[in-house]
Amino acid sequence: MTEEPAKRPLAARRGGPLRGVATVPGDKSISHRALILGSLAVGETQIRGLLEAEDVLHTARAMRALGADLLRDGDGQWRVWGRGVGGLAEPDEVLDFGNSGTGSRLVMGAVATTAMKAVFHGDESLRRRPMQRVLEPLTLFGATYSARAGGLMPVSLHGASRPIAIEHDVAVASAQVKSALLLAALNAPGRTRISQRALTRDHTEKMLAAFGAKLAVQPLDDGEAIEIDGEAELKPASIDVPRDPSSAAFPLVAALIVPGSEMTLPGVLLNPRRSGIIETLQEMGADISVANACDSGGEQIGDLVARASALKGIEVPPQRAPAMIDEYPILAVAAAFAEGRTVMRGLEELRVKESDRLAAIVAGLRANGVTVEETEDGMAVEGRGGDGVAGAGMVVTHVDHRIAMAFLVMGLAARAPVTVDDTTMIATSFPAFEEVMRGLGAMFEVGT
Ligand code: S3P
Repeated sequence: MTEEPAKRPLAARRGGPLRGVATVPGDKSISHRALILGSLAVGETQIRGLLEAEDVLHTARAMRALGADLLRDGDGQWRVWGRGVGGLAEPDEVLDFGNSGTGSRLVMGAVATTAMKAVFHGDESLRRRPMQRVLEPLTLFGATYSARAGGLMPVSLHGASRPIAIEHDVAVASAQVKSALLLAALNAPGRTRISQRALTRDHTEKMLAAFGAKLAVQPLDDGEAIEIDGEAELKPASIDVPRDPSSAAFPLVAALIVPGSEMTLPGVLLNPRRSGIIETLQEMGADISVANACDSGGEQIGDLVARASALKGIEVPPQRAPAMIDEYPILAVAAAFAEGRTVMRGLEELRVKESDRLAAIVAGLRANGVTVEETEDGMAVEGRGGDGVAGAGMVVTHVDHRIAMAFLVMGLAARAPVTVDDTTMIATSFPAFEEVMRGLGAMFEVGT
């Protein structure tokens, strides 16, 4: 079972400019999907650049427990021999997903239309996150479940022995829910139709097509619908995982707010449904350019080049939220160093992430002398300009990697050091964060 490790506080303080090449790890969303779809294909799937962080490693262990063969050949290089759609085996152990909402929810989808019982569990953060949003629509396929009050883990899921195709509109702006339903549909005879208002990340759709699933995406006046044929036969694929824009956002913002900095971030995923942060920072006056843009296995990638910039506050369009939903903690930090007010709305989903991220961001900003107004679905940050953030605060991370990384970046440009109460959970998404940042010139002190 998930053990909660001892906490490791860290302080970040101002030093010289950050310079050099920031190599960030493989994309977390694509890494989970590559392991899961590889496990549902027949034959050998090859993956290069897999994110070898705790979240993804939990998914790898779960797929092994469900009967797939997964072999690590070297850094980020994996081979997966799948069981075929409908071929996953009942696990004889509890599936422990650690901190990972994506891993757990996607695997729930993969299990829901195969006759088996599986128990899903996770760490203290994951045990607080809502699972009903996935479990309820999975019952339409014929699955049943039991969970703690409020749809919380541990969850026991009984996959349908005679699944049926469904038509369902996903009300929440969640790619995890959409993806879970698409994975469940693979083993449901007939054609399933999933629609959604929000244009959430589309990696599952793209990768399903690469594995040979039959699916069609139709634009709607308000959103889109995906039709997918069940009883699919997935063939193996060869996948190069691009680098994660959600991890890149931390060194990227550090380059913007630490005077004199200049940084290159090679090979970052530039899927338009993930790159809202770049557009937003550019609107704030950030000097970010893209070089060597190209296509890699159906995804756009490119090198980001960023230089220290005078930022200004803006109104971030709420409809852009799905394309940068994980980037609000670091955007709020950038906003603190801007001149003027930055208004962010449409962020109700932030309340159910690894922590109540809105509350955690607001508390962290206030602890470091930044004025911020919190509403139910957003915040307005009063920027203090390039040299105006006091710092000296202690930030409570609530087992949330992105809160930890965002406030460490704040400390690199604040007047006094910023301390985060724990950094162990950064290993869930970006294990080399500290090393990469130190390599660029960042000043961190352990245990202060
Ligand atoms: C993810 C979807 C998002 C995002 C998460 C990864 C995915 O969650 O926050 O980090 O890989 O599908 P929601 O689907 O809950 O919005």
